[in-house]
Amino acid sequence: MKVLIVGSGGREHAIAHKIYQSPRLDKLYCAPGNAGIAEIAECVDIPVDDFDALVGFALEKKIDLTVIGPDDPLVSGIVDAFEAKGLRVFGPRKNAAIIEGSKAFSKNLMKKYNIPTAKYEVFEHPSQAIAYLKNCSYPLVLKADGLALGKGVLICNSHQEALEGVKAIMEDKQFGSAGDKLVIEQFLTGPEVSVLCFCDGTTIKPMVSAQDHKRAKDGDQGLNTGGMGTISPSPYYTKDIDEYCRRHIYKPVIAAMKKEGREFKGVLFVGLILTQDGPKVLEFNARFGDPETQVVLPRLKNDILDVFEACIDGSLDRIELEFEDNAAVCVILASFGYPEKYVKGLPIEGLERFKDKTDYFAFHAGTKRTGDSIVTNGGRVLGITAKGKDLKEARQKAYEATAWVDFANKYMRTDIGKVVELLP
Ligand code: GLY
Repeated sequence: MKVLIVGSGGREHAIAHKIYQSPRLDKLYCAPGNAGIAEIAECVDIPVDDFDALVGFALEKKIDLTVIGPDDPLVSGIVDAFEAKGLRVFGPRKNAAIIEGSKAFSKNLMKKYNIPTAKYEVFEHPSQAIAYLKNCSYPLVLKADGLALGKGVLICNSHQEALEGVKAIMEDKQFGSAGDKLVIEQFLTGPEVSVLCFCDGTTIKPMVSAQDHKRAKDGDQGLNTGGMGTISPSPYYTKDIDEYCRRHIYKPVIAAMKKEGREFKGVLFVGLILTQDGPKVLEFNARFGDPETQVVLPRLKNDILDVFEACIDGSLDRIELEFEDNAAVCVILASFGYPEKYVKGLPIEGLERFKDKTDYFAFHAGTKRTGDSIVTNGGRVLGITAKGKDLKEARQKAYEATAWVDFANKYMRTDIGKVVELLP
């Protein structure tokens, strides 16, 4: 099979790595890719939002399957553009990707189908939101309706902060048209868990759980980032919680989307919070998570091309998902200063240590090749990942491997997965 991946981050490198293991693969392409992906795929310099060029490339190269990584092209209808030309593509159509593209849509869906989530209201005018805030208790959460590079969620500890948030989102349009509508939501507490689920429109199959670490600094301090590290499984996601989520969240949401005429095919990312009152949905995303994918896919035993095709063909019920009975930890090596200002173009040393290892991975995110060197090219540079027999061992191995790589402004959190040391 000839396969094209669309995207350029650590998530896409982890997907590429998994596809590369398939005996069914003849040739792998990635648009635009990065320096790590380029070692196993032919990278083509087409941006993820140039649908005409991507479709043209897939037709010219007779691509059998295209896999879409990022949210923006999915929400803008890249799957519809490929399907219109008769191309096979893994991901939800535009009318299903709205589950990530509009928070108001996903909250209203959950309310309509009794899927547990935080209480909320949706506003289209700042004056209504401001009036509503007068009688709220704090903290509470403001969410810009649309995609905002993961930055459109504000936790407000006071009435004043909330007023400033409404102004930033709805009046100053800090996140552009994503702020045309606003969701004001109850603040919930508890451990957060990410569960990525394969979906074929009717059947939904959750993968092993994961847990992200979104803040830039140790102790969950500092600014929100795209994710500074992940662990899989989450120690909080017990068998009972899994059964509850299958019954009250996963099955109802796939059925709800079908009933609404928005069949969801692809990966549905369920962002959960485990509260005292049971698991609740914080968000749905229409794609693999980043960096969740870097700890989930290395544990998957199936040929991922079989799974992708079953999702497209509506035959996922015939696939038994199998995962290794172990754990994985990913520590992001970032450029110092991320998620604000940072320097790019610095040489990265030591990547050769990962060659031929089966339980250590250096998933590239912001990297590029310049001559003979690989240099930094983004805020999140590498996702250093290790598998171990349990989370403790995986964590110890991942941190050991972070020392194999160096670049001048290397920065990482030192407490990814530290929760395992606190557990009995
Ligand atoms: N790790 C969070 C996300 O992929 O949205």
